[in-house]
Amino acid sequence: MARETFLSYRSYVWFWLCFFALLAMTVVYLLDDPIGGKNGGTIVGYTYGGIATAGILFLMWYGIRKRAYFSARTTLKGILSAHVWIGIALIFVVPLHSGFSFGINVHTLAYVLMLLTIFSGIWGVAMYQRLPYEIQSQRGGGTLKVLMEQVRSISADINRMAASDGGKGAPKSDAFLRMLQQLDFVYQPSLWRSLRRKNPEPIERRSMADSLSSLPIEEQEDGLKLIGLLNKKRELVGRAQEEARALTWVRIWLYLHLPVSFGLIAALAVHIFSVFFYW
Ligand code: HEM
Ligand code: HEM
Repeated sequence: MARETFLSYRSYVWFWLCFFALLAMTVVYLLDDPIGGKNGGTIVGYTYGGIATAGILFLMWYGIRKRAYFSARTTLKGILSAHVWIGIALIFVVPLHSGFSFGINVHTLAYVLMLLTIFSGIWGVAMYQRLPYEIQSQRGGGTLKVLMEQVRSISADINRMAASDGGKGAPKSDAFLRMLQQLDFVYQPSLWRSLRRKNPEPIERRSMADSLSSLPIEEQEDGLKLIGLLNKKRELVGRAQEEARALTWVRIWLYLHLPVSFGLIAALAVHIFSVFFYW
């Protein structure tokens, strides 16, 4: 399947739509010459304030729509392109609305919160773009689960190998079990710990050679197989860690983008209420 990015075709459509809308709004703004100067309280000011509010409500609606009837696979397409470009356009719509006037007040607070939401959104897009496609489309979970199953299955193979006597009637030697103890490890997946934990390295050649040479001749073959399994396990754990790390960042990011957007809605409600009732 082709990799869908924010710069895909549909994304350009939204980009140009927003670009021309902004251009038209700027021309109207420049031509407008209201009594008392340009500000949020003129006809153009009210209109642009209304447009900005409609834009913000549309962006908030994305969260509802996403949960209501979007399958997880369709997220980073179509409607999200609109989300991205309308969001970015709002950076310019609001100054056009307020006549480029800002102050230390709740109106400007709404703008600052909007900027924070937008910049966190841009960060989110940059982050999503770097994630493996599976995480982009499923927001984690899927691949991590499969990888964890593989880690469990390979751990079971390793344990079976340590317990088996290879059909020769004797249990594994102490040297074999020592090698296992030195080179194997238990992996407990944890989303938060994945941020700090380093990926396991492949087994060094030197310790591989040392361990193998300590084994009795008849266990050498099993020893080699064991090293193969252990290395595969390390690789799988490394990949699981990477998925977990990516997933954690997506969560951290959402905990930022979403609350700031609610803060914006609160400040915006106060702004609109105050201009209508106290201005
Ligand atoms: C229906 C929507 C809106 C209405 C009716 C509205 C109304 C107004 C009015 C009447 C003013 C004039 C006050 C002044 O000039 O100082 C104003 C200014 C302002 N508005 Fe809005 N607005 C709306 C949406 C928004 C939105 C969405 C934002 C930003 C997120 C915003 C941010 C501002 C800012 C920063 C100012 C300038 C404050 C200042 O001069 O210190 N407004 N708005
Ligand atoms: C005023 C501006 C914005 C508001 C109010 C807003 C609001 C939201 C909301 C409510 C969600 C849904 C989160 C959820 O429920 O999981 C969301 C998701 C998202 N937003 Fe924004 N957003 C804004 C601007 C932006 C911008 C400018 C970008 C990117 C440049 C962006 C990128 C994203 C991304 C990547 C997602 C998550 C997509 C997904 O997981 O499906 N947002 N935003």
